[in-house]
Amino acid sequence: MIRSVVRGFGAALPKQVMSNRDLESRVDTTDEWIVQRTGIRQRYIAGEGETTASLGEAAARQALDRAGLTVADIDLIIVATSTPDNTFPATAVNIQHRLGMSHGFAFDVQAVCSGFVYAMTTADLYIRGGMAKRVLVIGAETFSRILDWSDRTTCVLFGDGAGALVLEGQQGTGAISDRGILASKLRSDGAHREKLYVDGGPSTTGTVGYLRMEGREVFKHAVSMITDVIEATFEATGTTADDIDWLVPHQANRRIIDASAKKLGIPLEKVVVTVDLHGNTSAASIPLALDTAAADGRIKKGDLVLIEAMGGGFTWGAVLLRW
Ligand code: COA
Repeated sequence: MIRSVVRGFGAALPKQVMSNRDLESRVDTTDEWIVQRTGIRQRYIAGEGETTASLGEAAARQALDRAGLTVADIDLIIVATSTPDNTFPATAVNIQHRLGMSHGFAFDVQAVCSGFVYAMTTADLYIRGGMAKRVLVIGAETFSRILDWSDRTTCVLFGDGAGALVLEGQQGTGAISDRGILASKLRSDGAHREKLYVDGGPSTTGTVGYLRMEGREVFKHAVSMITDVIEATFEATGTTADDIDWLVPHQANRRIIDASAKKLGIPLEKVVVTVDLHGNTSAASIPLALDTAAADGRIKKGDLVLIEAMGGGFTWGAVLLRW
């Protein structure tokens, strides 16, 4: 059978860093409150000329370089984002053009913080269905542009950035010793759509709107939703928490990450955490964390890696892959 194998990884962050102390002068908050409740110490904020597409393009170029490939080798670009440069066309076609690619096809996936898990799963289906051999999967966001900077309950949590993977179809045996994506589980439930949403849009207000969130409600559901989809990937592959080399969670909040790992029985030494440095970068957070841990040598070829996310919608999901 065909498996979707990671050939390259890349990331890009805006130039400007904003620390918790910097935020103290903007809203009534403290470094101590933010660190204690979220684990976040700083985030990157896009400046003039930096957009979702420009960050996504930079991450994609690095992933292609590391794979030893060029855009000529890519059939499909999927961008996971909730902060597109324009309402349309898709940020993916914008990046396609920036990369100088005029063949193949490109589209966006919108599942908020679960976007990268949805995009990985979509890419895997295109590869295994035979419609694409190599796919650039990008998570890119500029959440700073949809934050209400007077709302301390949300503006301290998010940041900007992008990450990318090149996935390539390779022959596997069907066993879980294969490299590549081994199992995915996606879920959503729109009954929760008003707990984390943006209060504008083309078809309602005609404005972009600002992010609104009932933080406690999100927190309440996060751990059980995350652990349910992870357990489904264990069941589908006959694996257990003991087999996992690295858990690479969506980086929303240190407390959610720690509680999920504890419930699953995955020791914290096996959990990749970047929320302290990046804040919550929504669909970009998992590929940024993968890039960090693969570049510093923690994630190695052959490691069993579990990614998971939960976000607005609610959407949630998990992907189990061998690096
Ligand atoms: N600085 C200082 N105080 C703040 C604050 C800030 N940035 N934001 C809120 N507070 C205050 C509140 O006003 C409240 O004060 P009050 O008791 O006087 O009313 C107090 O802190 C507690 O607020 P609460 O919302 O109950 O805090 P919490 O412990 O639930 O933590 C979150 C808030 C947002 C950190 C937490 O709910 C959370 O992590 N939720 C999940 C969010 C998330 O991950 N979303 C993205 C999912 S993809």
